[in-house]
Amino acid sequence: MRPLRVHFLPELVAPEDLGTSSLLFDSRQRAIPGGCVVIDVLRATTTIVAAVAAGARRVVPFLSIEAALEAHRVAARKACVLAGERGGRPIDGFDLGNSPAEYTPATVGGRTVLLTTTNGTKALLHARSAGQVIIGAFVNFSAVCAAAADLTHVDLLCAGTDGQITREDVLFAGAVVARLTESPGWQPNDAATVARDAWLHVAGGQNGDALRTRLVAAMRSSRGGLNLIEIGMASDIELAAEIDRYAIMPRYFADRGEITL
Ligand code: MLT
Repeated sequence: MRPLRVHFLPELVAPEDLGTSSLLFDSRQRAIPGGCVVIDVLRATTTIVAAVAAGARRVVPFLSIEAALEAHRVAARKACVLAGERGGRPIDGFDLGNSPAEYTPATVGGRTVLLTTTNGTKALLHARSAGQVIIGAFVNFSAVCAAAADLTHVDLLCAGTDGQITREDVLFAGAVVARLTESPGWQPNDAATVARDAWLHVAGGQNGDALRTRLVAAMRSSRGGLNLIEIGMASDIELAAEIDRYAIMPRYFADRGEITL
């Protein structure tokens, strides 16, 4: 059975336990890859997928504003975009905030995005030693599921918000669990089963526009959704709920410190 684990917060799992595959071998004694899907639906991973889909050369995550500024100082400025948020709001002096709507071919095409967000980049860096690190959001849901289906050990890591569990991340993790467990051979942990149940409840057996409407309603009442509504960015919730808008699966290559296809 292939382990399929959900972690509601980075604080609930040690980095070295994520995506581990070293003990799993196929019949020819080849190590079988494991992987970790990092999830921050509102909005870091949704925004990263949008950036890569808009033609960004790479996205480089940073924990702090200072580290992003320093990288920008030493980089060829024209080829770089400084981006991110604190409290959901754009950072003074940065080129872009953390709204997926800002990431277009005109703003990021062919450029490197230096990104720092409150929780999303933290979760990414937490997962850096996992075999494969996949960027997951509803906007690239099916691409993530297809890639995860080929792995022998899947961890789904929810970013949460400031150490609190967030509903939208759990729902996405649950949607992936529901899709993967349509095939036999997976062994979900309890958190995966809880997430799947939550997702199936919200989805209510619907598809297409009806599903999206239900998902938007659920996200609007989540902590991350309420924060976006409060700061006047409710339209980002609609964007984040566009299931399968993109058929791409960006990955974080920790050895190079960058996210690309
Ligand atoms: C984060 O990384 O904490 C989030 O993406 C915050 C946001 O919605 O901008």
